[in-house]
Order: sequence, then C-alpha cells, then structure tokens
Amino acid sequence: MSAQNQTSSFRYGGVNHVALVCRDMAKTVDFYENVLEMPLVRSMGIGAGHQHFFFDCGGGGTIAFFWFADPPAFAPGIASQPLDVRKDGMMSAIASMNHLAINIPIETFDAAVARLRDKGVECNVINHSDGPDGHPAEPTDQTWIRSVYFTDPNGIKMELAALTRPFAPSDILVEPMDEAGKPVPLRHKTPEPAV
Ligand SMILES: [Fe+2]
Repeated sequence: MSAQNQTSSFRYGGVNHVALVCRDMAKTVDFYENVLEMPLVRSMGIGAGHQHFFFDCGGGGTIAFFWFADPPAFAPGIASQPLDVRKDGMMSAIASMNHLAINIPIETFDAAVARLRDKGVECNVINHSDGPDGHPAEPTDQTWIRSVYFTDPNGIKMELAALTRPFAPSDILVEPMDEAGKPVPLRHKTPEPAV
C-alpha cells in the first residue's frame, strides 16, 4: 500500500496470520466459515490437547485461532477491547490485541454490512472522516476509511474496513508520544508531492 513497502529491503506482502485464542473452536469455525465466509484452510492438534486452526481472510493472509484446554480467563479491557466501547471506551493493555480489521473493497462496503446484519450480526458503522464532523452518518469527500465493527463469539472485536483512497503524506497528522506522553519529532518527514 505505501511507498515505504516498495523501497524496503524487506519484501513485505501483508500480514501472514494473526494468532488469537478462542473459547470454543466449534463455534469459532461456525462463525468464521458460515457468517464471515472465511474458509477453514488448516486445522491441527498441537499437543497437550490444544488446537490451532487457520481461516483464509483474503490477500494471502489467515486469521488463526488457538484453543487451549485450560487458558487464562477472558480479560476484556486488558487483553482485548472492552465489550461495550460506548460505555467503557476502547482502551486495552500494552501488547494486547485491541481489535482486528480485515480489508474489503469500498464498492462492497454497504453490501457487506447488509449481509452481516442479515446473518444476525450486530453492526456499528463508522465513516472515519477528517474535518469537524469526524464520524458523519454518511460518507463524505473527507472520509478516509469506512468501518463496520462487530464482535465474534469469543468477544474479539472485529472490523471490516474499506479505504476510500490511497494514503498520502498529509495523512501524517501528529507526532508520536514517548512513554511519558511527550511528543517526539518524527525523524523522517515524508515530503509533500511536487505539484
Ligand atoms: Fe481499526
């Protein structure tokens, strides 16, 4: 997607897989295959009664799940995003898996939301936009990404996301905070394209 990837000596080709932990692998297979329509492409035992399954999420990537016989307890707000983000906000702990977004083409966005709702998935659509109204009800010419949020059977917060345009240097809007919350100047400013 970005020019950085074209010039990097690492030949990145997108995410290979993200590995999550499920409560019930049977329900997880049902949701990912039948609701999200992501085919199961590999299932395996990994010893001690544990399992590891992979679902094809397009673009050469997979969403992988572990099932552990006796895992640590579900910890929303720590290990993952809170279940009710409107009430509890969206923070989770350092190194947590906050939420997982899968690319979809912009022209399929509205149909994808309708299909999820037809299948009984509770959806929250947000048109992320620059300008004073950051979340307009309908997309505008300042909308940079359209997102539909929902929760999988394990309490994992998910998003189907459609970029409306390629990223540009003007998308770099703020400088990064250090651990103490102090902004640190970016070392490499991306030049604005010549006009
Ligand atoms: Fe996101």
